[in-house]
Amino acid sequence: MANDLGARASGVSGPPAAPDAPLARRLLPDTALVTRDGHLHVGGVDLLDLAQEYGTPLFVYDEAHLRTRCREAVVAWGDGVAYGTKAFLCKAVARLAHEEGMWLDVSTLGELQVVLAAGVPPSHVVVHGNNKSELELDAALDAGVGRIVVDSFDEIARLGKLTDRPRPATPEGGRHDVNGRPKVLVRVTPGVEVHTHEFIRTGQEDTKFGFSVASGAASKAVAALELLPTVELVGLHAHIGSQVFDVAHFEEAARVLGEFAAPLGLPELVVGGGLGVPYLNEEVAPTQQEWADATRQACMLAGVDARTRITAEPGRSIVAGAAITLYTVGTVKDLPGIRTYVAVDGGMSDNPRPVLYGSGYEAFLPRAVDAARPKVVRVVGKHCETGDVLVDRAHVPADLSVGDVLATPVTGAYGYSMASNYNKVPRPAVVFVRDGTANVVVRRETVEDLLRLETS
Ligand code: LLP
Repeated sequence: MANDLGARASGVSGPPAAPDAPLARRLLPDTALVTRDGHLHVGGVDLLDLAQEYGTPLFVYDEAHLRTRCREAVVAWGDGVAYGTKAFLCKAVARLAHEEGMWLDVSTLGELQVVLAAGVPPSHVVVHGNNKSELELDAALDAGVGRIVVDSFDEIARLGKLTDRPRPATPEGGRHDVNGRPKVLVRVTPGVEVHTHEFIRTGQEDTKFGFSVASGAASKAVAALELLPTVELVGLHAHIGSQVFDVAHFEEAARVLGEFAAPLGLPELVVGGGLGVPYLNEEVAPTQQEWADATRQACMLAGVDARTRITAEPGRSIVAGAAITLYTVGTVKDLPGIRTYVAVDGGMSDNPRPVLYGSGYEAFLPRAVDAARPKVVRVVGKHCETGDVLVDRAHVPADLSVGDVLATPVTGAYGYSMASNYNKVPRPAVVFVRDGTANVVVRRETVEDLLRLETS
């Protein structure tokens, strides 16, 4: 399975790595350190000790890495830059992003509730969603969220109805403008097709998201919201897709958004998320700063006023590289003349991305991080279907054997957040590591959890 997401983007690949090259160190979290015995330590903790203590599969996040990525985003984009929580959400990560100065972008009631449960002030929450229910909008309005990004004419009607009555004051001041009106943005589709997997492209004309600039729907939405006296229209929003490597796509989207926005003179523009991250040895991605600089410049060239607040909502680029998933090898099956299957104790239930998007990952042994990886195997999970593949052509050390802890790096985004209980496999625990200590932030699911919803 090729890395569909990476391979199709232009300008992403460095020189192809030697097939048996060890794992590129830059795919590991910031605090990764290889000790003299060849073991991988992250956050000052030996990954093999973590596997021993907490079991596998296990998501291990480097807290320092998360904090650094958040700070970089704040430096690059400034006030209002929001972490796209769909990439990975639990209370610990919401708190951390808030502590580091980011706002939080949510797209369902569930995400909103987790973020509020973490203690994030509602004024720093941005609410998205292409089909927000009355219940969701009501909860957002009651909480007094910072921004609501409007996605459809039906939603405008719903908002009109829900804002037509006074709401009790929230404990937190400053949530609405002086007239107590919620601040809203219009989500527009700039008609830009990015080179990424079709399932995660969102800027094109044929999409369920937002209002098209080209068709005139975006202008109509702006006019409708300007006429709605119970909300305050503060800006425009566009998100062109995810795992985008080519800055030119962001520039093009910013140009279309900027040209549409300039005559309106609204104070805010949000360009969504989407910055790609390297998953494979040979992949290279732009930095947060490069993305921000290119976007700003394109907006300015399009005539956007220099005082406009231009921000973004990075998800993957904040959390992906922070985590490693640890598995235990359970079986090694050599099919002569065909291939070798290495089966681990997780699979598509903790990482559905290879199955969904053909995404590629590297694999390595935390006991021998710098070892050559001459053997090509297919790493599969324990689920009852042939498609349950984690790494189609994994390069691994020749002595990999049953009982080994096998790791996949760059699993911090859209892994745990898309995890399932397929085959009644309990979801893994999530551990944050920092300064030599490990903190379980989400415990492993149990059989009791699996039975919790059953009523007879
Ligand atoms: N803002 C909006 C409105 C979004 O829809 C998304 C992602 C983001 C921000 C964050 O984008 P990021 O920086 O993470 O690319 N499950 C897919 C990715 C789906 C992205 C959905 N929207 C995957 O595993 O590749």
